[in-house]
Amino acid sequence: MEWDWVRLRQDAEAEVAGAATRAELEEVRIRYLGRKGVVTRALAQLGRLPPEERPEFGRQANSLRQGLEEAVARRREEIEREEETRRLREEAVDVTLPGVPVRRGSLHPLYRVAEEVKRIFLGMGYRVAEGPEVEYDWYNFEALNIPRDHPSRDAQESLYITDDILLRTQTSPVQIRVMQAMAPRLPVKVIAPGKVYRRDTVDPTHSFMFHQVEGLLVDRGVTMADLKGTLEEFARQLYGPETRVRLRPSYFPFTEPSAELDATCPLCGGKGCSTCGSGWLEMAGCGMVHPRVLEVGGYDPEEVTGFAFGMGLDRLTMLKYRITDLRLLFQNDVRFLEQFI
Ligand code: DAH
Repeated sequence: MEWDWVRLRQDAEAEVAGAATRAELEEVRIRYLGRKGVVTRALAQLGRLPPEERPEFGRQANSLRQGLEEAVARRREEIEREEETRRLREEAVDVTLPGVPVRRGSLHPLYRVAEEVKRIFLGMGYRVAEGPEVEYDWYNFEALNIPRDHPSRDAQESLYITDDILLRTQTSPVQIRVMQAMAPRLPVKVIAPGKVYRRDTVDPTHSFMFHQVEGLLVDRGVTMADLKGTLEEFARQLYGPETRVRLRPSYFPFTEPSAELDATCPLCGGKGCSTCGSGWLEMAGCGMVHPRVLEVGGYDPEEVTGFAFGMGLDRLTMLKYRITDLRLLFQNDVRFLEQFI
């Protein structure tokens, strides 16, 4: 049999080059170089050739085998590189693809106003204090000069858990807790925002749960002028620099003297409108801390004085965002809440 070595090599090399995967390449390799492969079979014939032809035949066959082995090895490397490139391309993350949108929430309008109130008082050197919403009758009433039979208890329509424990009706008990924790250090200078609870029917201006911010300053020589100046500064930062305030005499069991603080209406600037009527809006109950309350707190009323105030956060929020129905604040209706993003 005549061997066309050139042709054979061309065919074999074309097949090696045409193998697209490692498996295909292996097939080609076996077909030529395997135990029953074309090249192997050619070499097996060597012995049957006339002696003078053997050296040339052997050289050709060996050169073909070597050439093919090298071609297969090269092609294998190529295929591996191609596979690697393809794998990397498939696994690549396209960072320019739009992501899965995350629905962003927003702060509740009440908490926005609370943050604003905190910011203003922190700027005046106050700290923020907290107290429990489930409170002892003693802290909520007794320690604040409101004994069992005191008529001002009736107005608070309290929600009791036991005879001694209730949902706090005001943030004022935090005054006692803070003083007891601080005494005898001075000054005591805190605000205490939080939820309060009263037995009440729900209507556009009432709820069984609402929010207050309490304020307390105790130090040597604190006067009613400090109280008025502090709340005036607060009102101006909250409503604008043209805001004016006034004190009206009032009564609270835990302050003496007691007052209500009014601020000029931020909507009409004090001229009078449908929201305020007279041009003035009630902003806080306040007064000089009663000597007995100072004593319960652990301070000597002969040595120190203090002022306190309490205001409704819900009312401030309704005014700021012109919300006319208190219930909207507590219904968690996304259509309402979304407006404050
Ligand atoms: N705790 C009072 C209330 O809920 C508000 C209040 C009035 C707080 C006068 C005070 C204050 O600290 O001095 O009606």
